[in-house]
Amino acid sequence: MKKIFIAIDGPAGSGKSTTAKIVARKLGYLYIDTGAMYRAMTLKVLTSNTDPADETAVVNLTKVTKISLEDGGNLRVMLDGHDVTEEIRSEEVTKNVSLVSSYPAVRELMVARQREIGLRKGCVMDGRDIGTVVFPDADLKFYMVADIMERARRRQEELSEKGIELPIIRVVKELKERDFKDSTREASPLKKADDAIEIDTTRLTIDEQVEIILNYAKEAAVGEEEMQRR
Ligand code: CDP
Repeated sequence: MKKIFIAIDGPAGSGKSTTAKIVARKLGYLYIDTGAMYRAMTLKVLTSNTDPADETAVVNLTKVTKISLEDGGNLRVMLDGHDVTEEIRSEEVTKNVSLVSSYPAVRELMVARQREIGLRKGCVMDGRDIGTVVFPDADLKFYMVADIMERARRRQEELSEKGIELPIIRVVKELKERDFKDSTREASPLKKADDAIEIDTTRLTIDEQVEIILNYAKEAAVGEEEMQRR
């Protein structure tokens, strides 16, 4: 079957990453977590004692930083040759990532890398601006949403699995702050592309979310094949 490019955008905790990862595995596609790239850059800023609020310093640091994703079954995030897959999920990174990723020059550098990787068809890429900016010509675009309380519950569960217990109210606050920053920034804010298919995952299981996307993907792949035959 013809290989296609699938873009999945949406706010934090809407189920993008989990869904995208499984969809990619089932289709035998490459999975690109663009949020992980911004998180890795934020980790670098924090560990090199750069002030995240100093835009020029952050941009200069981005120019000399090497970030790559290795998708060998389980996605590993590499920062300057070191595996930082776990470290990039820390609270400190989460707190600062929206600021670091709001700088246009940082985004330009990341987007250029994402486009390079995504040129290979047979790719599921998730983020905030994939369908709008990174790959506006994506074969299929999804925009995942869910109620704030459900998103907070999921994030709380995720953290709890790592041994971090946070009151739900704090998780809600963190999600709301990040949603606000991500959707109001000037450079490619989080927003639904006009031609994206919206999926509300509040009452869906992961299997159901995966199934919905797989069905669309199969239809799109067959459609592309037919178009080429004509
Ligand atoms: O997994 P989670 O929903 O916590 O977020 P993420 O996908 O890891 O993304 C972390 C942050 O990176 C987001 O809150 C955005 O500030 C930024 N981001 C972005 O600006 N553009 C993207 N394409 C992906 C992430």
